[in-house]
Amino acid sequence: MSQELLRIQDLEMHFPIKEGVLQKTTGYVKAVNGVSLSVNKGETLGIVGESGCGKSTLAKTILGLLKPTSGDIFYEGESILNYNAKQMHELRRNIQMVFQDPFSSLNPRMQVGDIIAAPLKAYKTTKNVKQRVQELMELVGLKPEYYHRLPHEFSGGQRQRIGIARAIALEPKLIVCDEPVSALDVSVQAQVINLLEDLQKELGLTYIFIAHDLSVIKHMADRVGVMYLGKVMELSDNDSFYQNAQHPYTNALLSAIPLPDPVKEKERERIVLKGDLPSPANPPSGCVFHTRCPRAQDYCKKNVPLLETKEDGTHTVACFFPIEHAEQIQN
Ligand SMILES: Nc1ncnc2c1ncn2[C@@H]1O[C@H](COP(=O)(O)OP(=O)(O)O)[C@@H](O)[C@H]1O
Ligand SMILES: [Mg+2]
Repeated sequence: MSQELLRIQDLEMHFPIKEGVLQKTTGYVKAVNGVSLSVNKGETLGIVGESGCGKSTLAKTILGLLKPTSGDIFYEGESILNYNAKQMHELRRNIQMVFQDPFSSLNPRMQVGDIIAAPLKAYKTTKNVKQRVQELMELVGLKPEYYHRLPHEFSGGQRQRIGIARAIALEPKLIVCDEPVSALDVSVQAQVINLLEDLQKELGLTYIFIAHDLSVIKHMADRVGVMYLGKVMELSDNDSFYQNAQHPYTNALLSAIPLPDPVKEKERERIVLKGDLPSPANPPSGCVFHTRCPRAQDYCKKNVPLLETKEDGTHTVACFFPIEHAEQIQN
């Protein structure tokens, strides 16, 4: 039996929209709008969805950087939302983050050694900080001699390695990777993903791995969740996800993955969704995807589909008219 490390229940993060000199609240951006999911020890949960669907906001609530509007977050079975400062300090040790942008997430005036040393000093985990930093640098594939260099002296991929060294410094259990390779060249992306995979094996890490396209997480996630306008549309085991995707939105995302075989790639039919992504300040009624869904019926405009478990037990989908096996995009 896999053991649950983190569970998110009915989580909502609504940002108030304030207008006028009196800064009156005129509405809410529903960035995360009722998300429930769990993460098991040692696994990689991939989260995908287009820009603005609430991925980073979800990450920040898990890290305790944002206080959610409602819902709950359990870490090792305990609700963390009412933790006091001391409990939060301990928790932060176990949950770390790797950010999307390796350029802005590192202080440009700090030497890399000091950047990686910061969490060690804050938690006083070791007397020999310098030695531990050098160990960490080696672990992520950076020469320890670079200790005194500044972030701008490194390439994007190397900077992301610095961010990863900082994230693993305290031996956390969970790392939330928020689009860690999106800002990197394709050739460098694979190296950073390989590093993250090696570290996971070596250190027994659990990952929530956020990406805006599916190709990045295809080979690394154990389970995949698809978000759209602050909601999870489909969540399943990796195999089942790629072979048996049932949500029309997932199907559209899958159709966008380039195929390695040039003949198949030429024949690949891309599903282009109609219209623009609606604003999370004014999400559509019923199923939030209905305005762009090729399968939408009147029923979908008035009723909200819940994430339901399908026959095989490993697959959950929030759709009234899920795609049958025969119609699916084959990858
Ligand atoms: N601090 C904030 N205040 C107001 N709106 C925000 C804030 N952070 C994010 N948003 C809005 O919430 C929505 C989701 O954003 P985000 O979580 O960054 O999405 P993603 O990471 O999937 O691109 C967007 O519409 C964004 O503009
Ligand atoms: Mg983001």
